[in-house]
Amino acid sequence: MIEFYLNGEKVKTDAAEDTPLLWVIRDEFKLKGTKFGCGISMCGACTVHVDGNAVRSCIYPVGAVKNNRITTIEGLNNSHPMQKAWVEEQVPQCGYCQSGQIMQAATLLAQNADPSDEDIVNHMSANLCRCMAYKRIQRAVKRAAQDSAVGVYEPGSDNQGSYNQQVEV
Ligand code: FES
Ligand code: FES
Repeated sequence: MIEFYLNGEKVKTDAAEDTPLLWVIRDEFKLKGTKFGCGISMCGACTVHVDGNAVRSCIYPVGAVKNNRITTIEGLNNSHPMQKAWVEEQVPQCGYCQSGQIMQAATLLAQNADPSDEDIVNHMSANLCRCMAYKRIQRAVKRAAQDSAVGVYEPGSDNQGSYNQQVEV
């Protein structure tokens, strides 16, 4: 039996220790906000926090979280500054990647209250978005951190390339 804290509540599971945390969260505890994208740690859709650190739950064995504190998107309670900024910037398109994006972004704010554009790119660039919402994501992170990102970015389509391409432009 594996015990851990899930969004502040002590829980236990008898899942095999090598079961990916993602499936325990989704299938056993019915928290469906955390998504399955690639299953090989390449996209970030499955990002959750383990003791405040962003991890990819699709490859993270549940046996590794004994007594750790797991936070999923549901654990942010729609009250995290990042979630507020996400709404204000109307970030999601299809939405599939978004919980992972927010969970990844939330760890940046915890580490760096005033991230530069480069800090944001470096922290977020491994979270993929098929809808190319990168500029809105970047803007929302900035807004959450500084409460004033409007006008910082060049006008034009918000659906462009990738973070790295933005840096090069
Ligand atoms: S589903 Fe975990 S990184 Fe893609
Ligand atoms: S909003 Fe569709 S994949 Fe990111």
